[in-house]
Amino acid sequence: MVQFNSLFQQSIEKPEEFWAEAAEGIDWIQKWDTVLDSSRPPFYRWFSGATMNTCYNALDRHVLAGRGEQTAIIYDSPVTDTIRKISYKELQDEVALFAGGLKSQGVEKGDTVIIYMPMIPEAAVAMLACARLGAIHSVVFGGFAASELAIRIDHARPKVIVTASGAVEGKKIIAYKPLVDKAIAQSDHQVEKCILFQRDVISAEMLEGRDIDWLELVKTSEPAECVEVAATDPLYILYTSGTTGMPKGVMRDNGGHAVAVHWSMKNIYDIDAGDVFWSASDVGWVVGHSYIIYGPLLKGATTIIYEGKPIGTPDAGAFWRVISEHKVKTLFTAPTAFRAIKKMDPEGNLLEQYDMSSFEALYLAGERLDTDTYYWADKLLSVPIIDHWWQTETGWAIVANCRGIEALEVKAGSPSLPVPGYDVRVVNNEGKELPAGEEGNIVIKLPLPPGTLATLWHNEDRFLSSYMATFPGYYETSDGGYIDKDGYVFVMGRMDDVINIAGHRLSTGAMEEVISTHPDVAECAVIGTNDQLKGQLPLGLFVLKEGVERDPEDIKADLVKMVREEIGPIACLRETSGVSRLPKTRSGKILRGTMRSIANGKEYRMPSTIDDPNSLEEITDTLKNMGYPKQ
Ligand code: COA
Ligand code: AMP
Repeated sequence: MVQFNSLFQQSIEKPEEFWAEAAEGIDWIQKWDTVLDSSRPPFYRWFSGATMNTCYNALDRHVLAGRGEQTAIIYDSPVTDTIRKISYKELQDEVALFAGGLKSQGVEKGDTVIIYMPMIPEAAVAMLACARLGAIHSVVFGGFAASELAIRIDHARPKVIVTASGAVEGKKIIAYKPLVDKAIAQSDHQVEKCILFQRDVISAEMLEGRDIDWLELVKTSEPAECVEVAATDPLYILYTSGTTGMPKGVMRDNGGHAVAVHWSMKNIYDIDAGDVFWSASDVGWVVGHSYIIYGPLLKGATTIIYEGKPIGTPDAGAFWRVISEHKVKTLFTAPTAFRAIKKMDPEGNLLEQYDMSSFEALYLAGERLDTDTYYWADKLLSVPIIDHWWQTETGWAIVANCRGIEALEVKAGSPSLPVPGYDVRVVNNEGKELPAGEEGNIVIKLPLPPGTLATLWHNEDRFLSSYMATFPGYYETSDGGYIDKDGYVFVMGRMDDVINIAGHRLSTGAMEEVISTHPDVAECAVIGTNDQLKGQLPLGLFVLKEGVERDPEDIKADLVKMVREEIGPIACLRETSGVSRLPKTRSGKILRGTMRSIANGKEYRMPSTIDDPNSLEEITDTLKNMGYPKQ
């Protein structure tokens, strides 16, 4: 651990030297005046004064350096039976042309563009084209419903929306255009143009005057050059769930982001230019931004855009097929994908059909890696299984086994040690640091390293109140856990109302907001319950208004439908139950934590502030009748 320890120490004691050296991995137009601008804490800025272009670093410089013929993207789509390889030169040409198309529609540096796309190469082209122009993209995950898209349209105020006619989700085809039309109709912000990629599997109706066909557009476009932007200019906004229905628009800059994700490719993932790196996520999530698109391309590696699932496309051997067919060195996915494979093929028999000789490591993140899944994957694959912990806000790993620096001893249940740049501590609710082994709030001492959120888009106050106010001088991760005597971090789960469903981050508060609009519901609570496949699932408890006589089964069906329609299918709210009252404190706060403990079979103490102890009895009975705790 000698090498790792000394690098880590340097990153904490001399962050400016450390990151200036890492910044040599990026091509700058103009170098910085200051590596770390601390003039307005906690709004730290990295590489102030520097200028560059992220798309240039991801594409053009590799073409200039002779990598033009190397494959940049492998599009592997079992659901459409397609494999397409796109070289760096071809990708550069496509991106430049599409950027020209965006420009012809008035998109300029500093404008925002919403991208609502399935897992097709055009999603990457659209993101990189924005970066090329210095425009700010905001990718919205396709599993979100029209109203969630509308919320993001109103907040990001895009000049253009880029979308496709639809997605193939396992065996289903989902039309995107009606969702986009509905979202545009719902939003107050006027979207002037919608550029749409028509797919063979489904075609969309176009609205004259507003909608533009992607292929028609690029036929007449002139390729656009890379626009010089400040390192501190925004590259993208990515909305993520908070505790309310209004998501948080995490803003990432250009320079710090490029430096950090580029550095992470070698140091965390041990990936060099030319290697094949596969992140089986979606471009709508942060993992997709950092490790399907920007990280691998900034490094000059080959990335895979996989339009399929771990199971059912066509079977639980899908991941092994992709690894062997494309000679994947490293796979990054969420533990839930492995739980799904394990469920379908517990002995891993399908693996025998494939040549896995290229495969060197599996990285997992997005949710807690349970030890069952860890040991199963470890035994089956005989490669290092690396758990690593991070968040949309940080954009890259906070705690990880940095194999590119020095492989550390693995402790099952821990993503291992803080990554260089992150000074991780555990504190109690009063902000006092806790001794080794004691569980509390995981916080990170400021400044955060480059690549982490610069602020929340158009909401500095929320940035301060959500992350910086509770523990001054520290970033509040909202995850709980402890650090053991060897410095290993154990992340136990969220301390707020965010839950993790199949590696997707969702807000129970947002679901409550939807349920509470039902005309028969007086009040409600949504809690996260443990699930063997998806990690967590939401459960809704509601109290009916006085005098409501409708069949409770109909109301339950309404609630499930409403959440699906308002938030999206990925919210996975399937179970709800009526109760006569919700347990509360005397000041009227709903005791969600206590209900969560009951549903998950965890011991709990009767809160001394409880208003009516009998209310907990009813909840316990209700949950028991519904089969909770489930495991
Ligand atoms: N567009 C539209 N709908 C989508 C969607 C998309 N991009 N992604 C998911 N959905 C829908 C699904 O079709 C499903 O709808 P249904 O209720 O009609 O069946 C619903 O959202 C829930 O999706 P999901 O949670 O993915 O469940 P699943 O049963 O289809 O698949 C897994 C389960 C475990 C196989 C799947 O979640 C998976 O592959 N997870 C990998 C984890 C991952 O990629 N995490 C990203 C962060 S690293
Ligand atoms: P997201 O912002 O969608 O990436 O979700 C971030 C949240 O996922 C974190 O705050 C954690 O609660 C959880 N998470 C991510 N990775 C891990 C991990 N390796 N172990 C435990 N929890 C994780």
